Amino acid sequence: MNTIKDIDISKKKVLIRVDFNVPLDSKQKITDDARIEAVLPTLKYALSRNACVILASHLGRPEGQIKMEFSLQPVARRLSNILGLEVMMAPDCIGEDVAILADGMKGGQVLMLENLRFHKEETQNDREFGKALAALCDVYINDAFAVSHRANASVVSITEHAPISAAGLLLKKELDYFKKAMETPVRPLVAIVGGAKISSKLSALKNMLQHVDKIMVGGAMANTFIKASGCDVGRSLIEEDLVDMAGDLIEKIRVRNIKFYMPVDVVAADRLEPEANLKNVPVQEIPKEWMAADIGPATSCLFSEVLQDAGTIIWNGPMGVFEMAPFSHGTFDLARVVSGSKATSIIGGGETGSAVQKAGAADQMSYISTGGGAFLTLMEGEQLVAVAALEKVASLGLS
Ligand code: 3PG
Ligand code: MG
Repeated sequence: MNTIKDIDISKKKVLIRVDFNVPLDSKQKITDDARIEAVLPTLKYALSRNACVILASHLGRPEGQIKMEFSLQPVARRLSNILGLEVMMAPDCIGEDVAILADGMKGGQVLMLENLRFHKEETQNDREFGKALAALCDVYINDAFAVSHRANASVVSITEHAPISAAGLLLKKELDYFKKAMETPVRPLVAIVGGAKISSKLSALKNMLQHVDKIMVGGAMANTFIKASGCDVGRSLIEEDLVDMAGDLIEKIRVRNIKFYMPVDVVAADRLEPEANLKNVPVQEIPKEWMAADIGPATSCLFSEVLQDAGTIIWNGPMGVFEMAPFSHGTFDLARVVSGSKATSIIGGGETGSAVQKAGAADQMSYISTGGGAFLTLMEGEQLVAVAALEKVASLGLS
């Protein structure tokens, strides 16, 4: 797979697919611009080569309709401030008006296309839509790691029509970081897996077994493991139908000689509200009418000890309902331990990334992925569909 640096892009019209799906507040103000910052190396490189930079992204899920609350205008403004140059805003992402704007560009200019998902064809990976996007450019660059697990037209079918396709620097960096952690990690390699549902993490857990030395589980998904180990979890969130499977998985982990750690205590609450009554209890003693909402202080100590000798840490999924202050300690304490560790720390995007930000521990992490779903797909050992598309055109000599 070639990268943008392998191609002559000077004065060319370069369409860069980015993931500017950033969180906005009710006043359309961007509350976290990490995804914008993350593609700056690619954008600055393209501008330094005097390319005509055309940016394409989705924002939210407008489901094929033009909904201005999902417009990329606030992102264009923010990017313009960051780059210190004008970012022109196109009225749409395809069509004659957009083509005229793109054709009139000079080297070093930036044009932002409007939300790709204003067209339902984007998420349908529609061939004609991919072709129409490709028609805007001489070179197509995918730097949208976070959406590369989606078979969307702007990351898959576009590669069949663009004259030249290659990866951006962020996409390459994300893939390289992950690959190194899996294939040649400094050991012990520790996976921390949390979040609400064990069902959504099962494939990742299974795949991790082939690589890791230790696994730690927390968050509501751990409740299913706790139940499988014979403890009653009261009214805690649990996936009853997966209890046996969780038990089998614990057995598989044991057979492989991987060290497995689950919570030994939890913060139990009588309801999932910030004003709830709380108590720290061993997992054996969760009251019948109560529910686990966070890992407890003994578990935080245990997890911290387990991480002492870690060489590489991969973390995906929070330890509790960190959005509510009383249930945030487990996740935030862990974030501080991981960030203080000498290990290479690789953090999944999405809610894990935002928890680490909230804990004030982001700067000391080795790497925070920009992808939630895409990162999880890598943890599952699956190839990203958009990366497969780039590799395919590379193998055909079209990149
Ligand atoms: C994300 O934020 O997960 C990516 O931008 C992909 O968005 P999606 O989950 O709406 O496809
Ligand atoms: Mg998503």
